[in-house]
Amino acid sequence: MKHEPYSSRRQALLRRIGDGIAVVPTAPEHIRNRDSHHPYRFDSYFWYLSGFPEPEAVAVFIGGQEPKSILFCREKNEEREVWDGFRYGPEAAREACGFDEAYPFAEFEKRFPDLLANRGSLWHTLGHDAAWDAKIVDGLNEVRAQVRAGKRAPTEIRDLHQELDRMRLVKDAREIGIMRHAAAIASAGHARAMRACRPDMAEYELEAELSYEFRKRGADGHAYAPIVAGGRNACVLHYVENDKLLAANSLVLIDAGCEVGGYASDITRTFPVNGKFGAVQRDVYEIVLAAQQAAIDAIKPGASFIAYHEAALRVLARGMLDLKLLEGNLDGLIENEGYKRFYMHRTGHWLGLDVHDAGEYKSGDEWVTLVPGMTLTVEPGIYIRPGPDVPEHLHGIGVRIEDDVLVTESGREVYTTAPKTVAEIEDVMRDE
Ligand code: GLY
Ligand code: MN
Ligand code: MN
Repeated sequence: MKHEPYSSRRQALLRRIGDGIAVVPTAPEHIRNRDSHHPYRFDSYFWYLSGFPEPEAVAVFIGGQEPKSILFCREKNEEREVWDGFRYGPEAAREACGFDEAYPFAEFEKRFPDLLANRGSLWHTLGHDAAWDAKIVDGLNEVRAQVRAGKRAPTEIRDLHQELDRMRLVKDAREIGIMRHAAAIASAGHARAMRACRPDMAEYELEAELSYEFRKRGADGHAYAPIVAGGRNACVLHYVENDKLLAANSLVLIDAGCEVGGYASDITRTFPVNGKFGAVQRDVYEIVLAAQQAAIDAIKPGASFIAYHEAALRVLARGMLDLKLLEGNLDGLIENEGYKRFYMHRTGHWLGLDVHDAGEYKSGDEWVTLVPGMTLTVEPGIYIRPGPDVPEHLHGIGVRIEDDVLVTESGREVYTTAPKTVAEIEDVMRDE
């Protein structure tokens, strides 16, 4: 484990909290049933500041004249290590991660009131984890109870999210490298699923192709529950059953990304189950593809976060008119949001340690301005649920195309490279 970039991030946080104290716990373990646990995933804020992977850990930051960072973590335990594997223990963890001090996790409650006493402000990721909120309040009350002994509890409670979110929003060179890698693996997974796809396969068989490619190439696993949605299942935005058969003349929408070193990729591709787009499917697909390209072109430093959504919307809404899904004129449709029946989500979100990553979208009433290092998804779609007023030949077609994009000094870099144009998709599906 290297001290960087975590040590620099801790220094930056220590500068921001003045003479305050900040507390950043990692995520709890979750029991699946009896003594089986869900796979452990650390808390993203904690990881961002520590690089420490074990559960039962919390980082404490003391600002002021003599700033220091303290790690509380599990003690070494030979018996548990026989069952569950290696544990650092405080001293080795301190050394490996570059904290100033480290103590057993079990001592947190005992030591916390003394750390809190006489600090001006307390910074915490409030509301993130109720059990931790309660521990923090207990510590505060314990210091308040010692007022006659001359101890003063912090009078200012500050939400640490804003500070950390601002830091996490702009990715550094190392993060960019990891995210490129995550995007490359996920792209290979999507290409593999296209090559493997055959009529009458089950959706979960394509999910298996993605899972195989992700793990084979060293990703930690899926970054979120994958969606493999054949035919009209694509019109259910969060479809995750993935248990139906894929009909020969339908499309299949796959939204799947992997996690690498804690960072997510997030890709959607939609392609014909039999390897060749039908004329109507192709019409819808080309509209979404054009909307995605218009959106990607609108991403550059200095642009408003919302500009790329607006760029996609115009192309999608015009396409809905051309397809005779809607009537009226383009500006009216955008104004009255008539397009929402067939395109009901935003064109993308920040991407990073979390698939829907930390970071504000608006500052006050103003949309955030893009700067180099920000990373976002571009994912327009059209979802045509059947209805009496919907042309029948369009019923059940659902298309989304999603890529991961870095804002660069000169514009943008699209990380994700899975086949995307009609020709690219038909080519890769024909090769087998
Ligand atoms: N896969 C989650 C999303 O696209 O937002
Ligand atoms: Mn997605
Ligand atoms: Mn997404």
